[in-house]
Amino acid sequence: MDTTATLESADEAELIAGLPATFRWGVATSAYQIEGAHAEDGRGMSIWDTYCRTPGMVDGGHNGDVACDHYHRMPQDVALIKSLGVDVYRFSVSWPRVQPGGRGLANEKGMGFYDRLVDELLRAGVDPWVTLYHWDLPQELEDAGGWPARDTAYRFADYAMLVFDRLQDRVRTWTTLNEPWCSAMLGYYEGRQAPGRQNFADAMDAVHHLLLGHGLAAARMRAAATKPIDLGITLNMATAMPATESLADQEAARRADGLGARIYLDPLLRGQYPGDILDDLSARGIKMPVVDGDLAIISAPIDVLGVNYYSSHRVSGVDGAGRTEDAEGNPVTSMVPFGRPVTAMDWEIVPEGFTQLLVRLSREYPGTPLVITENGAAFDDVADASGYVADHDRTAYLSAHIAAVAAARQQGADVRGYFAWSLMDNFEWSYGYAKRFGLVHVDYETQVRTPKQSALWYRDTIRQVRGH
Ligand code: FCB
Repeated sequence: MDTTATLESADEAELIAGLPATFRWGVATSAYQIEGAHAEDGRGMSIWDTYCRTPGMVDGGHNGDVACDHYHRMPQDVALIKSLGVDVYRFSVSWPRVQPGGRGLANEKGMGFYDRLVDELLRAGVDPWVTLYHWDLPQELEDAGGWPARDTAYRFADYAMLVFDRLQDRVRTWTTLNEPWCSAMLGYYEGRQAPGRQNFADAMDAVHHLLLGHGLAAARMRAAATKPIDLGITLNMATAMPATESLADQEAARRADGLGARIYLDPLLRGQYPGDILDDLSARGIKMPVVDGDLAIISAPIDVLGVNYYSSHRVSGVDGAGRTEDAEGNPVTSMVPFGRPVTAMDWEIVPEGFTQLLVRLSREYPGTPLVITENGAAFDDVADASGYVADHDRTAYLSAHIAAVAAARQQGADVRGYFAWSLMDNFEWSYGYAKRFGLVHVDYETQVRTPKQSALWYRDTIRQVRGH
C-alpha cells in the first residue's frame, strides 16, 4: 500500500507550504448523504425521501435510507475524522429528524444524536461546524408550498432556533443554508433535485424565501447567542468566462454570473438584488417577491461566507444550432467546454477559475472572510482487495485546488480555511452511490471505511503546513 504523500508539482507544493499555520482544515458531509436511519427515533420524511421514491429520479433507484449508516456508527466516524488530523468537521442537521413535519417542538431523540455528535467531536479535539439546511426540507412544508412560499422562511427560522438553543453552548460556527442555488434552481426549475418541480418563476420565489430564511434565522440566533458565534451562509459558485469576446457571449456570461452568484451575493452583502438581473427577470414577467424590510434582514452582516467550488464555465450566447434565442424567446445562455480533463461527474477541472473567483469575491465584496466549505472530486475509484484506493486523480485535484486557494490568498483574497468534500463516499443525490467523492472509501455492503491515498496525502499536507 502506497501511503507516501506525494505533492503533485513543485509549484503547488510551494504554494501550499506557504499557507499560514493558522489556516483551518476540515472535512465536510451532509445529513441525508451519510446518516441513513431514515425511519428511526421519530424522523419524519423530507423532500429527498419522496424524490428518491419517485421512479426515474435517482440513478439506480438509490436512496438515503441506509447511506453510510453514520447514525449508528457516529463514534467510529468521529475517530476516523480525528485520524485525518483536521481541525474542524462540517456536518448538517437533518430538519425532519429534529423537527418532524417542520413545525412544533423538537424531537428529543433526533436532537440527542447531534448533541452526542458534538460532544464526541469536542472530546476528539475537532471543532464542530453546523450547517442547518443541506436540502432536506420536511415533506409537509413542501406540501404547504415549499421554498416558493414565504411561510417556509419563518418555519426555517423556528427550526434553526431549536437547534441553536440546544447546541450553541458548544458550537461556535453556524451556516444557515448550503447552496441555495441548488435548492432553488435544481429543485424548483430544472427538477434535477428534490422536490423536482420545473417552474422558473417558482425558482425565483424560492431564491428570495431561502435568503429571507437565512436572514430571519441569523437575526434570531444573534439575539439569542450567549457567547461569540461565527455565522454565515454557503454559496456554490463558479467563474463564468465568456466563450469569446463577442457581445453575445459576454452578455451570456453576465447572465450566468448573475443568476449563479450575484443574485445571492448582492442581497446578502450589499442589501440589494443586482439591477441587471432584475431587468432580465422583468423582461420575462418575473418580479422578486420582496416585502419592505426583507433586504435589511437578508443583508445583516455575516462573519464568514462559505464558498463551495467544483468547476468553472465557459459561457456562450449562441446554442449548438447557432440560435441566440430559445423557444420562449429568452436569450440563450449555454455552457461550452474548455476542453479540459473532467471528473467522473463530467465537470471540467479548472483550478484557475477557483483563484479568480476568490480574488474577485474579496475585491468586489470586501470585508467578509471566506472559508472554502466544499471542494473535491468524484472519480471512478478502484479499490484493491483490502479496500484501499490509490486515487492519484483525486489527490492531484485536491493539490491543484488547495494551491489555487493559496494563490488567491497571495493575490489578496481573505480565505481562512478549507474543507474537503467529502469525508467519505456517500449518497450523491440524483447520482445515487455511483459517484464517489470521499477521501475515505466506503464498502456499502459491509460499511467498512478505508482511507484512500488522498486522505493520507491530505493528513500529511495539513501536518506539513502546521509545521509539525
Ligand atoms: C455540492 C453539495 C454536496 C455534494 C457536492 C458534490 O453541490 O453541497 O452535498 O453533493 O456538491
